[in-house]
Amino acid sequence: MKRDCRTCCHEVNPKKYAVPDNFGLPRAPLSQQPFDAKLQTISLSGEHEWRAPGPDDQRGPCPGLNAAANHGYLPRDGIATRETVINGLHEMTGLSTDALVFLETTTSFFDGDPVSGKWSIGGRTPKSALLGPLQNALLGEQSGICGLGHLKSEGDASITRGDFLQPTGENSNCRSYPKFFKELIDLAQEMNGDNEYKGQITPRVMAEHQHRRKLHSIANNPNYYSPAFAGIAFTPAAHHFVVAMMATRNETQPEGVTAIPELMEWFSYTGDPSSVDTLTYKYGYERIPSTYKRRHPANQWTLADIVAAVAQQAVAYPSTTGVGGNTGTVNSFAGIDLGDLTGGAYNAQALQDPYKLGCFISNTIQSQAPTALQGLLSGSQLQAALDSISTKLNPMLDQSFGACTALFGDNRKPKGRTERDIAGSKYPGLTQKVDDSRAYSEQP
Ligand code: HEM
Repeated sequence: MKRDCRTCCHEVNPKKYAVPDNFGLPRAPLSQQPFDAKLQTISLSGEHEWRAPGPDDQRGPCPGLNAAANHGYLPRDGIATRETVINGLHEMTGLSTDALVFLETTTSFFDGDPVSGKWSIGGRTPKSALLGPLQNALLGEQSGICGLGHLKSEGDASITRGDFLQPTGENSNCRSYPKFFKELIDLAQEMNGDNEYKGQITPRVMAEHQHRRKLHSIANNPNYYSPAFAGIAFTPAAHHFVVAMMATRNETQPEGVTAIPELMEWFSYTGDPSSVDTLTYKYGYERIPSTYKRRHPANQWTLADIVAAVAQQAVAYPSTTGVGGNTGTVNSFAGIDLGDLTGGAYNAQALQDPYKLGCFISNTIQSQAPTALQGLLSGSQLQAALDSISTKLNPMLDQSFGACTALFGDNRKPKGRTERDIAGSKYPGLTQKVDDSRAYSEQP
């Protein structure tokens, strides 16, 4: 009998290492993936040469976006625009346009300016005040993807970033911590040291790392919280990006595996990976390795791949899709019932089905968007942003995930209750007010 993932699923790991190495949508066997060095080589010189970010440039929790800005695939000041995100990241990585439209649209709604599509790849920034009268007002309060972007698209138990509301210690959600980076390297050695992957990083390593990072947060952070959108869509998908987007590819390994030296460049580390004491992280200096090859055009990483890979991980590790958190002490994890969030349509196991998982993500975004915008904007700016829910956000979600009628009632209103309604004041990690001084990311 399958167990209900409300309170128990973080304690055990019943199907350890069961994530497939050929993850995402069904594809040809790994060795038969297409590879074309010419098509897959990207420019790292001229306008795409690596340049150190300036002190006022924004850099944050995403090594992919930071590296893109350092190589001019995104604006070097770290203020992303819809066009540069969709075109620049597609050209750089082979991430598909449908995935980028989804990532960009949701991020601009929750963390930036949903009307212009501008957002900071770091924290809040006064630089956005230069962007024109409407954008001034809109972006004046925008969070960016770290700092107060916490629990919008940024979540706890990240690959190497800290938990924002961890009371002491590693609690920046923008910077990377060597301790967690080293745990990932050690895990790759533990799982792949004796096989053909020779200590490199594969999907199974990333899935196990995500599970362990959750266990770490539950055991160390009384304010740990895993929200329905960021916790299910962004944090697990970011784990998969280490292999799907950052891998080293060549004739013999066309699908790619991620080697440690390249991973260090992507994550802005130098030093000796065998010792945590010698690993040095430099904020905002992420770089695309010279050996990098983007995904083959016939083998792009699509939104369907993102959802399928998260669902595959949820089969092996039900904790992946657990919504909820600690209740103010460590090891007090309590889950939120998926039935309450979905008006009784889904239980926890439903999210192991990629179609239902996609609908759940769509449902969560739609139930949260109005409140997120109301907390951010006012007056005519708020109205313009609210209007764009029906003109921009919902059509994109319908196109991405289908109408998902099981979850929506009249006027597209989600049938379930919102996370905050259900949770009340139970989770300090969800309700705690944070000082505005924490809204800003470090200067690179
Ligand atoms: C529009 C596109 C993108 C958006 C909006 C985005 C956003 C984010 C956000 C919000 C996080 C923090 C997640 C968390 O809290 O765990 C994150 C982390 C991450 N992203 Fe991205 N990202 C994008 C594209 C990419 C690309 C193209 C790559 C790879 C080349 C990438 C690789 C990663 C990785 C590896 C992490 C985890 C970092 C860590 O925990 O140390 N992302 N991204």
